[in-house]
Amino acid sequence: FGGIAMTTEGLEDVVATTSRICDLDGKLGKLTYYGIDIHDLARHSSFEETAYLLWHGVLPTKTQLAEVEQQLHASRALPSRIIDLMHLLPPSTSPMDVLRTTVSALAAFDDDLNDKSTAADERRAIRLTAALPTITMTWNSIREKRNPVEPLQTGTHAANMLYMLTGKEPDAYTAHALDVALILHADHELNASTFAARVTAGTKADMYASVVAAISALSGPLHGGANEQVIRMLLRIGEVRNVESYLEDALARKERIMGFGHRVYRTEDPRATHLRAMSQELGERTGDLRWYEMSRAIEEYIKEHKGLNANVDFYSASVYYMLGIPIDLDTPIFASSRISGWTAHILEQYANNRLIRPRAEYVGAKVTEYVPLEQRG
Ligand code: SDX
Repeated sequence: FGGIAMTTEGLEDVVATTSRICDLDGKLGKLTYYGIDIHDLARHSSFEETAYLLWHGVLPTKTQLAEVEQQLHASRALPSRIIDLMHLLPPSTSPMDVLRTTVSALAAFDDDLNDKSTAADERRAIRLTAALPTITMTWNSIREKRNPVEPLQTGTHAANMLYMLTGKEPDAYTAHALDVALILHADHELNASTFAARVTAGTKADMYASVVAAISALSGPLHGGANEQVIRMLLRIGEVRNVESYLEDALARKERIMGFGHRVYRTEDPRATHLRAMSQELGERTGDLRWYEMSRAIEEYIKEHKGLNANVDFYSASVYYMLGIPIDLDTPIFASSRISGWTAHILEQYANNRLIRPRAEYVGAKVTEYVPLEQRG
């Protein structure tokens, strides 16, 4: 076909670019950021340290980490006009739509938007990373007709998110559990939302526009939107004893079971390993193992009947639920982590300085004459 490589609809296994940021091995279930294994990052790192690694390619020194934490603290508050804008939206607006709309508006409040230097874009990466949780939790207060909680000027990204959600500082374990979940979600090579960000950045559109493209892609249920659907499924099933009949029925109707399958992993998603353990630990701590036990029963059934593994969205659902996070904030929480990966890839795409423009194999009508309107009957 004209010498152009043939492909399938989903770009399966198509290598679209080179990157130094993230490596996935779908067969071995391995995930590394700049060569550092996700298992080590989940066990020993913090979201802030991981974000620094994604932006700069190396783990920060103590001084560098303290500096990036301070910059994130200083960027958590939103311009008051942005909060005014959020008050104009109907309370029923979905949190992902609020995120997309508000990030788009943030561009208008960036005084040096015309500064396209790497330093300016690195500042934007920090500003956006700090702002996404504030947007989400401020919206949650507004729609519940409560005064928004001012972001903390200290503490971790995770602790601040929970503080803004509840108005109370979380206990150390709860903050740590969310911090680990944020590390696990930070980057994942050319997933759909990151690819959307890179295609947009490839045209030299600004970082806000590229992040809006990413947020839009992440909102779909086949991508980031899956985690919210998983917890809704668990709530519908209700009890472990209902799992088998529910799944039998769903599979008979050829339904997709959210939280299972992956375009790249052909074995366990290494992130699910940690999230499964966290779901069990949270169940034991809260004294309600129902969500974990139902999840385990579903996982065994789907493995047996569909040969599919749980992906990152499956156990994050019960973890976020047991952390007290409202169900429709699950995907915005995903975005509050993945913003670090998106901005790292946007910076890399700007450095590549290359428009991303693949071809389509034309399968439409053959060449036909133009028939004037009056002759078309
Ligand atoms: C994320 O890309 C990333 O890295 C994404 C992500 C990240 O960190 O950025 O990992 C995050 O998005 C995880 C995925 C979250 N989405 C879901 O959980 C939605 C449910 N999963 C699927 O829709 C599906 O598995 C995808 C979209 C994740 C991947 O689908 P593919 O690679 O396009 O596979 P496919 O749709 O061609 O399915 C292959 C077969 C099909 O069977 P047949 O129709 O050929 O008989 O497997 C079946 C599918 O029906 N299948 C499923 C299924 N997923 C695939 N059957 C039931 N339930 C499922 N979840």
